[in-house]
Amino acid sequence: MCFMIMKIKGLNFLILTAAMAHKSFQPIVLVHGGAGDIPDSRVSAKLDGVCRAARKGYEILQKTGSVLDGIVAAVELMEDEPAFNAGKGSVLTLEGNIEMEALICEGKNLKSGAVTLVKNIAHPISLARRVMVETPHAFLGGEAVNEFAARMGVPTVPDDYLFTSAAQAALDHFKQAKSIPSKMEIGEVGVGTVGSVAIDAAGHMASATSTGGITGKYNGRIGDTPLLGCGGYADDERGTVSTTGHGETIMRYNLAQRILADIASGKSAQEGTKDQCEGMTKRLNNTGGAITISSRGEVGVFFTSKRMAWAYQLGDELHYGIEHGQHLVDKV
Ligand code: GLY
Repeated sequence: MCFMIMKIKGLNFLILTAAMAHKSFQPIVLVHGGAGDIPDSRVSAKLDGVCRAARKGYEILQKTGSVLDGIVAAVELMEDEPAFNAGKGSVLTLEGNIEMEALICEGKNLKSGAVTLVKNIAHPISLARRVMVETPHAFLGGEAVNEFAARMGVPTVPDDYLFTSAAQAALDHFKQAKSIPSKMEIGEVGVGTVGSVAIDAAGHMASATSTGGITGKYNGRIGDTPLLGCGGYADDERGTVSTTGHGETIMRYNLAQRILADIASGKSAQEGTKDQCEGMTKRLNNTGGAITISSRGEVGVFFTSKRMAWAYQLGDELHYGIEHGQHLVDKV
């Protein structure tokens, strides 16, 4: 904090100066590509995707100065990549449909926008941003979302654009195995979602999360991703989080909000993220992961699943990993 001494009527007054109290942060765009039992065959595509997303998000944040622009650019890139369970590549419902969800949160003013049961839209995260910016509401769902998209001039994409043979194979496998929808991603056990959190130089934060949900879910099932405090949250006074994993478990545990409560009580971003992911898995016996930036500018990354791809750019360094305990750094 900065203080200034002013003399008024012969007395000295100690005054906190708002302008001088301004603290500067290192801008960061941190992303994840979904927690799950990611098979070896999908590791390189997921790592490549998160690294490109982190770099894109950072480039846009540096260019426009907007954390919202940065996280949306990062998530849109992953929504375009069939390696991720969001946008193109989304998993299928029991009846073979794609129903997507997304949430965006802004920490400066606690604004948010969410969409659920979205069909035939390439970038659900941008639609969530439009709900936040263009409507008096925080959450739109079902056919109304697509009607809203049409009013906003957002183009639709055909089913073929979003569908992948891998998503179909995962559903076929799911049906043959008579599995439960908590356990399946594409090709293997697990779930996946994409997300991004960011902080700018002034300490303003934001969070974005987008998903196709879980393979074999009922039509109309709503998961954790679009729910505040579950799929994500951002509050400049605490931090910003995006979560991934089994939706019903994350909802019941309120994962994002619990991580931020830990940070508010003095834990570091890494401690809070680790303790709450582990606490959720111990209590509810399902896995997940989260990425976090605290209001002190610290980074937290943790997952209880087998793998979770993550990456962030800090200055000219790209940090990334996908295995437990892995933290690689490249110069960009
Ligand atoms: N976390 C994604 C879902 O369960 O829908």
